[in-house]
Amino acid sequence: MEMVLRAPAEEKYAEELTRLKEADDGPRPPGWRLSARAVRRFILGDEALKVSRKFYGDDPLVDRAIVSLMGAQGLMMVGEPGTAKSMLSELLAAAVSGQSGLVVQGSAGTTEDHIRYSWNYALLLAEGPSARALVPSPVFQAMRSGGIVRFEELTRCPPEVQDALISILSEKTIAVPELGESQTLRAKPGFNVIGTANLRDRGVHEMSSALKRRFNFETVHPISDPGFEKELVLKELAERLAGLEAGSEIDPGVIDVLVQTFQDLRSGRTKEGTSLSRPDAVMSTAEAVNVVHAAALEAAFLDKAAVSGAHIARQVQGVVLKDNPEDGKKFKAYVDHVAKDRSGGNAHWKAFYQTARKLKLV
Ligand SMILES: Nc1ncnc2c1ncn2[C@@H]1O[C@H](COP(=O)(O)OP(=O)(O)OP(=O)(O)O)[C@@H](O)[C@H]1O
Ligand SMILES: [Mg+2]
Repeated sequence: MEMVLRAPAEEKYAEELTRLKEADDGPRPPGWRLSARAVRRFILGDEALKVSRKFYGDDPLVDRAIVSLMGAQGLMMVGEPGTAKSMLSELLAAAVSGQSGLVVQGSAGTTEDHIRYSWNYALLLAEGPSARALVPSPVFQAMRSGGIVRFEELTRCPPEVQDALISILSEKTIAVPELGESQTLRAKPGFNVIGTANLRDRGVHEMSSALKRRFNFETVHPISDPGFEKELVLKELAERLAGLEAGSEIDPGVIDVLVQTFQDLRSGRTKEGTSLSRPDAVMSTAEAVNVVHAAALEAAFLDKAAVSGAHIARQVQGVVLKDNPEDGKKFKAYVDHVAKDRSGGNAHWKAFYQTARKLKLV
C-alpha cells in the first residue's frame, strides 16, 4: 500500500473488517455490509477477533447510534469540539456501508447543489440534460448505492440550505425534473445520513424544527474517566509515532500529568476536590493527543531524550493560549497552586511545574 498521511477508516481497518465479516452470523439490516452487532464490535473492540477499541467512554451511545441508523431518521451527533463526533461517524459509515468517503462539509458556502446534484456544464451545453451530464452530490450517491452519507458541521450551513435535507430524509427521494417529469431518484435500503455539529460554533438552535424532527440527536461528551483517557492517548500516540525513525520512549507517568491537567482544567475541579477557574479554551482529548504528540516529537528530534513533564508543559501552553488572554492567568494559577503541590513527591509533576512556572503566560 502507498504511504499516505491518513487513510480512510475502511482502509486503515480493512483486516479487522474482513475478520468481522467472516465471523458475522447475526442478522444484517437491509443494505448493510455487517450485522448491527458486528458494527458495535468494530467500534468498541473484540478481543477474540483482534478488533481494537476505537471509541472510549460511552458504550450505550454507540448502541443508540447504531439503532438510530437502522431506523427511518438520520443520526445527529452534537458536542464540544474534539469529542470524536467525526471519528465516530466515519467508523459507523465504514462499518455499515463499507465506505466513509461520501461527505458533505458544511460551511457558509454550502449550497443546495452540494446536497442534491449539479451539472457538468460543458456536457450540459453540448448534449443537453442527460444522466451523463449530471454531477451527483455525495447525498445523491449514497441514496443511489444505499449507503451512509456524512454531513460534517451541518449547522454551519445557512438554515435554508440545511432544509434541502428535509425532503430527502422524509421522502427518501430526489426529483431531477431536468431529465423528465418522472425522473426521481429513490434511495436504496441502507441509505442514511449522519450529521455532526459543534456546540461551540453556530448552535443547533438555528436548525429548523422540521429538520430537527428528522434526526435523532446524540450528545457526545468528553471522556470523564482518566483511565480511559490515558489508554486512548497512549494508543493514539503509538499510532502517530509508528514508522518514525527517531523513536521516543514515554513513561506512562508523564501521560498521567497530561491527562490529569486536562481533566482538572476541563472540569474546573481537581481530583482532590479543589475548585479551579476553568479556561474557555477547549481542553479536549483530541487536544491532549496533539500535545503529547508534539512533546514526543520535540523530545525525539530536538532533544534526543525521553519525553518529560517539561515537554508537556511547553506544549500545553499552545492549547490554553488560543483566544482568551484570561486563560493564561487561569493556567498560571493552576501551575502555581495545583502543579506546585503535586511536584513534591513526583518527578514528572516536578519537571512539569519547573518548566511551566517559567512560561510567559500573561
Ligand atoms: N471518546 C473518544 N474515543 C476515542 N477517541 C476520542 C474520544 N474523544 C476524543 N477522541 C480523539 O479525538 C480525535 C478526533 O476527534 P474528532 O475530529 O472526531 O472530533 P469532533 O468531535 O469531530 O471535533 P470537531 O467538533 O472539532 O469537529 C480522535 O481521533 C481521537 O483521538
Ligand atoms: Mg468534527
